[in-house]
Amino acid sequence: MSELVELSQPAARADDDALWRAAVAVLQGNWEQGYTVPSRRLYPHQWSWDSAFTAIGWARVSPVRARSELESLLASQWTDGRVPQIVFNPTTPRDAYFPGPDFWRTRDVPGTPHRETSGLVQPPLHARAAWEVHCADPDPEFLRRVYPRLRAQHDYLQRERSDGAGLVVIVHPWESGQDNSPAWDAELAGVPTAASGTPSTRPDLQHVAPDERPTAADYGRYVALAEAYRDRGYRDADALPEHRFVVVDPLFNALLCWSEEALADIAGVIGEPVEPHRRRAAQLRDAMLEHLYDPDAGQFFALSGPGGAHRSVERTVGGLVPLLLDLPAEVVDAVVGSAVGPRFALSDRVPLPSYDLTGHAFDTTRYWRGPAWVNMSWLVLRGLQRHGRWAQAETVRAALLAVVRAGGFREYFDPLSGVGRGCTDFSWSAALTLDLLAGDRP
Ligand code: GLC
Repeated sequence: MSELVELSQPAARADDDALWRAAVAVLQGNWEQGYTVPSRRLYPHQWSWDSAFTAIGWARVSPVRARSELESLLASQWTDGRVPQIVFNPTTPRDAYFPGPDFWRTRDVPGTPHRETSGLVQPPLHARAAWEVHCADPDPEFLRRVYPRLRAQHDYLQRERSDGAGLVVIVHPWESGQDNSPAWDAELAGVPTAASGTPSTRPDLQHVAPDERPTAADYGRYVALAEAYRDRGYRDADALPEHRFVVVDPLFNALLCWSEEALADIAGVIGEPVEPHRRRAAQLRDAMLEHLYDPDAGQFFALSGPGGAHRSVERTVGGLVPLLLDLPAEVVDAVVGSAVGPRFALSDRVPLPSYDLTGHAFDTTRYWRGPAWVNMSWLVLRGLQRHGRWAQAETVRAALLAVVRAGGFREYFDPLSGVGRGCTDFSWSAALTLDLLAGDRP
């Protein structure tokens, strides 16, 4: 534990001090030789965007571990630039998680790393996380090491996943990070359930109640989509023309844009050209405003179907996350209006729900169909701060601290009562609590 240096003192309240120690204990307990598992039992490998959030938390306690968290993930980048959704731990039983390495079979795929991985990606928060880690403990050498890999990650998405209109697509709900969001229901309805492949005993249901997890029908469709992509060798040019799920997700694109801005900052420190990153970030932001934003609704929506012709009508918290970006004042006003309105009901008691409280598919319990996730509220909070909405940002912060104080570092929370759900000792819930306690930053 010698690399644990308390860089920032937790705030003065005694219960904050206890919370800080509890959060550090969760991260220590989930630390696994170079990176952090999201949860010891439910998610016993390395997950991509989890590591980005977790690095942001580790940066407050151990910058050494924060850097290792990101660099261990980037070490498993594919030669095409993709940063995989999951990097499998070779010492964990192969069937501890489904779909595991025997499903993805990446050993058979050219250009894959030494470690076995999934063939999908997750929201690209990594350049932003690298920048945050550097800000907590400046280390230009670290930035020099990770910059080429982060740039290659963004290049892969812009090259292989372009929607042709300036945005990038995802090919599976798991790539969105918001697995069973109602935003994917319409697209998923057309996907036949996999006849084979799903084990009769799903490992996730050994750890969490079935009514909190995706249904069997959804799981069968997830498996079918993943199989279809795998069977095309994960080659996007071959797979995408006939793929059943090709979606432009506002959260994914917003994080790509936010990370592109961070790449510009990183480039500035290490003497690389800044302008290309600034330009790309502005193009992404403009394309989001043009194609995903609905001024009447005051939020951003997903697109699917040929040419992105179908705009989702489902309002999810991911549609508020573009608040992270440099936006026109009237858009900021409208999105903040949505956050405080009846659909998301921003309060200091419970963090933002993952889905419209008044929506037809709203469910207090099931995963991404209502429950409040720490990372989503943290992202919105950062957006509120960016636009100087300090009072609302403080409200979100109070809600996040209230639920983790009362219920521990749960995976998600009931969006009405704040009761904890999903697994316990969840890494990003603990990590982002450390970030909140360490103080408000830009
Ligand atoms: C769930 C979440 C996903 C996360 C993963 C590991 O699948 O939906 O966003 O990355 O768990 O924590």
